[in-house]
Amino acid sequence: MMSDRLIVQIQRRVHEAHAIVSLELVDPTGAELPPFEAGAHVEVEVEPGLTRHYSICNSPQERNRYVLGILREPSSKGGSATIHQLFHEGMRIKISPPRNQFRLNESAAHSLLVAGGIGITPLLAMAWRLHALGASFELHYCVRTRARAAFIEMLNQSPFADSVTLHCDEEGDSSRLDMQALLQNPRSDAHVYVCGPEGFINALTYRARDCAWNDANVHHEFFAATVSTSGSSFVVQATRSGLSVDVPADKSIAQALLDVGIDVPLSCEQGVCGTCVTRVIDGVPEHRDLFLTADERAANDRIMLCCSRASSGILILDI
Ligand code: FES
Repeated sequence: MMSDRLIVQIQRRVHEAHAIVSLELVDPTGAELPPFEAGAHVEVEVEPGLTRHYSICNSPQERNRYVLGILREPSSKGGSATIHQLFHEGMRIKISPPRNQFRLNESAAHSLLVAGGIGITPLLAMAWRLHALGASFELHYCVRTRARAAFIEMLNQSPFADSVTLHCDEEGDSSRLDMQALLQNPRSDAHVYVCGPEGFINALTYRARDCAWNDANVHHEFFAATVSTSGSSFVVQATRSGLSVDVPADKSIAQALLDVGIDVPLSCEQGVCGTCVTRVIDGVPEHRDLFLTADERAANDRIMLCCSRASSGILILDI
């Protein structure tokens, strides 16, 4: 549930590429929208009780609109499928204010932006921001086919078109991104940003490590992930709600808490966005998310309720 929502109007809906639409959101009264940073996202209320988060892809200098790019995911039954079917121009929708968990280091001497498919969206805002700063950057955009390359016309016409390279699988090896060549000379004053499907990010971050990039200079945001939320049963004690809740083998903690009326903020429901992070008071989490760093996982003081479980019989949570 979103407590601090904004009402916005869909000013424009554009078919950008195969299974991808963009929505331009504006304030219904024509007022400015809250500012956003490159890499930020908003949570969109698709229907009551169902939100999804989408990166803002236009220039952060624009105060009159947020542009979102939305892929209709093949397995989607609600979420992106509902947006594709029902969201139309003129419609008013609820969104959260922009939040940023994929920050740009604006003082880097050089930035490498690497997108896999719809992962282009936060990197577009970063490209606009770096261009506005006059900063050095290159954007590599990897797609399976040109028909799936959203925003390519805008990129070709952008003032930073010379910094953009499209890598298209269907066009053979000479077009595909050579990650080794891209990353082989790490610089301590350069930063890498990668967004896309899990396998794409894993491949790039693995290659960056192999090429001796400093982990702190390599940033990623998963576009989608596959997480299993099932496992052994356990009990959650929700201290603020004063309830003890059984979490059966086939339900997530979030679902078990929602079933007894405890409000759980959710967005991606894939362990990616961090919306459902909750403080652990006692017990041992079994982390299954892709949001926490290795150090944060080891601390065991926070847990993602949408996907993670417990390896202790009881988990005491601050909710
Ligand atoms: Fe996104 Fe849980 S809802 S990490």
